[in-house]
Amino acid sequence: MTVDLRGRDILREADLSAAELTALIQLAASLKNDRRTGTPHRILEGKTIALIFEKASTRTRCAFEVASAHLGATATYIDPSGSHIGHKESAADTARVLSRMYDGIEFRGHSQQTIDQLAKFADVPVLNGLTDEWHPSQMLADFLTMDEHRPPDATRHSYVYLGDARNNMGNSLLVMGAIMGSDVRICAPQDLWPTEQVRALAAERAEHSGARITLTENPQEAVPGAMFVMTDVWVSMGEPEAVWASRVEQLLPYRVDADLMAMAPSSAKFMHCLPAYHDSTTAVGKRVREQFQLHDGVEVTHDVFESTSSIVFDQAENRLHTIKSMMAATMGDQPID
Ligand code: CP
Ligand code: NVA
Repeated sequence: MTVDLRGRDILREADLSAAELTALIQLAASLKNDRRTGTPHRILEGKTIALIFEKASTRTRCAFEVASAHLGATATYIDPSGSHIGHKESAADTARVLSRMYDGIEFRGHSQQTIDQLAKFADVPVLNGLTDEWHPSQMLADFLTMDEHRPPDATRHSYVYLGDARNNMGNSLLVMGAIMGSDVRICAPQDLWPTEQVRALAAERAEHSGARITLTENPQEAVPGAMFVMTDVWVSMGEPEAVWASRVEQLLPYRVDADLMAMAPSSAKFMHCLPAYHDSTTAVGKRVREQFQLHDGVEVTHDVFESTSSIVFDQAENRLHTIKSMMAATMGDQPID
């Protein structure tokens, strides 16, 4: 089936249909295979993309830059203090300026409203590299990774996400799974569940796709039978340091450790969008570990992170292939086959 995403924005998962998301994931798999066989794919030769980052990034920034190089495009990285956006110039004006120079705009930042505003005023595709609400480029990578590691007899993906479920990852995993017809389990204290609005969106999409949606506070209900066990940091970028204490208290029962993994099938895989606090080699990891006596790791224990069940680096690599497919599909001159 041919899918035409030329000129389209990707601001949230719900902007796309299951067929369009599947086509992007399949294109990413094909571009990944091209890299293995040394087949060039300079689909965006001579094109340009502006990468606006209000927040830090390793994977997303590098994936956009490397994808640009492989596709023959040129990227301009704009760091959190390196442009006027938000300080002296509105998103609407920035969008109109950048549209005169670039063929695409990526935005990572705080407010979904900012990227929605950029998209409204830009004449070129706008791609979401993470906001407080959604992380759609991560979802494409996560689904490609699950496709690669799924049990051969599985008819759909089954995954459980434990931790802060009203952050970007919780929202995106819920809604993406609902669109794609997955068996999605969200496991967190009710205070940290996605908002009613996000849950309603997921329920509406699940009705069409046949997805199975479970929201529960109980890991013993959520984890058994899930082929993929996922978590994310307990305090996201932009949140105040002061929330660590309450988050640790609320989320300690949801930490992914060996006992929790043992509730899942023995072939279940561990996934995390990264970065992860699993040891004390980072400033925050060390401080949190000492302050809260979390000697084995924070949201995931070091042994699980380093275990053979962990596929986090396959997942990280797939950011490159899926971001490349988003760029090729929206900024390219041909529809996706
Ligand atoms: N997973 C993810 O988005 O990583 P970065 O913050 O490093 O881009
Ligand atoms: N929830 C995390 C995701 C990082 C990729 C954050 O927003 O900081």
